[in-house]
Amino acid sequence: MNIKHVWAVYFSPTGTTKKVVCRLSQSIARGLDASWQEYSFNLPEARQRDLSFGPSDLVILGVPVYAGRVPNQMLPFIRDQIHGVGTLAVPVVLFGNRNFDDGLMELRNVLAVNGFYPIAAGAFVGQHSFSEILGAGRPDDQDMALVYELAEQTIKKVLELKEPPNTPVSVEGQDPIRPYYIPKNSQGEPLKDFLKAKPITDLNKCINCGLCVINCPMGSIDPENISQVVGKCIKCCGCIKGCPTGAKYFDSESFLFHRKDLEDRYGGVRAESRIFL
Ligand SMILES: Cc1cc2nc3c(=O)[nH]c(=O)nc-3n(C[C@H](O)[C@H](O)[C@H](O)COP(=O)(O)O)c2cc1C
Ligand code: SF4
Ligand code: SF4
Repeated sequence: MNIKHVWAVYFSPTGTTKKVVCRLSQSIARGLDASWQEYSFNLPEARQRDLSFGPSDLVILGVPVYAGRVPNQMLPFIRDQIHGVGTLAVPVVLFGNRNFDDGLMELRNVLAVNGFYPIAAGAFVGQHSFSEILGAGRPDDQDMALVYELAEQTIKKVLELKEPPNTPVSVEGQDPIRPYYIPKNSQGEPLKDFLKAKPITDLNKCINCGLCVINCPMGSIDPENISQVVGKCIKCCGCIKGCPTGAKYFDSESFLFHRKDLEDRYGGVRAESRIFL
């Protein structure tokens, strides 16, 4: 098939999804001698408009896995405002060394319903947004080698295709998609108040640069008082990892318990990235 434009379209509050989606799509664009463009829908303004793609586009669409699925606050935008018309696509997810559960399956399914033909897919490990040690340094060289392998195989597939395939690429996961992963306490009960947790600010460290206000995907940090999270917090940790002075952090008991629990259970093992063709 003749692809003229390759797109990197992503949500990536702490940058790992952006890294994988951009490198993957740039390699594919080079291999197909096509032009390349990126579209981040991190910010609320970027989710105001609709995105439409045609038969000469190839879209690499990436999101992080949140609670085993596509981030629920991003799902309406992806489902209702990103459409293809006979457009080839490569769904990509990043996950923080626990598991991608049904995140990739859910993303692939939404794309297939929206007029895309998912022809290849990948689930890659990225450093966990909550932690400095879980998936530390990922995606690393080994993960990136798999990204380039996916690029090569996708190029080959596109060049061999005479027309869009009848069935979407097979990926790991369950369909129907399972409920969101729920953080649990030591008794195995849902962690109380986890969803209410919001980052706080050490005003002794804050230099009032305003970066956290500008970059919050939910537009939730008050520009008049950057220590106030006035809207919804999806715990993406963009404000924490993006603060130049390390002034933002979570102190919620349930958040800290969940982070330690994840680190204890998944910190000592290396989850592997996967590609699907
Ligand atoms: C709210 C939330 C939920 C998450 N849930 C999962 C999960 O279920 N499994 C997993 O392995 N990683 C999970 N992660 C980790 C992210 O998927 C991972 O860190 C990813 O690389 C972040 O992407 P980004 O750098 O593009 O923001 C979660 C992160 C957040 C913020
Ligand atoms: S990014 Fe950090 S230093 Fe900048 S305003 Fe926000 S909390 Fe303060
Ligand atoms: S306030 Fe919440 S949603 Fe906004 S950047 Fe920080 S962690 Fe993400």
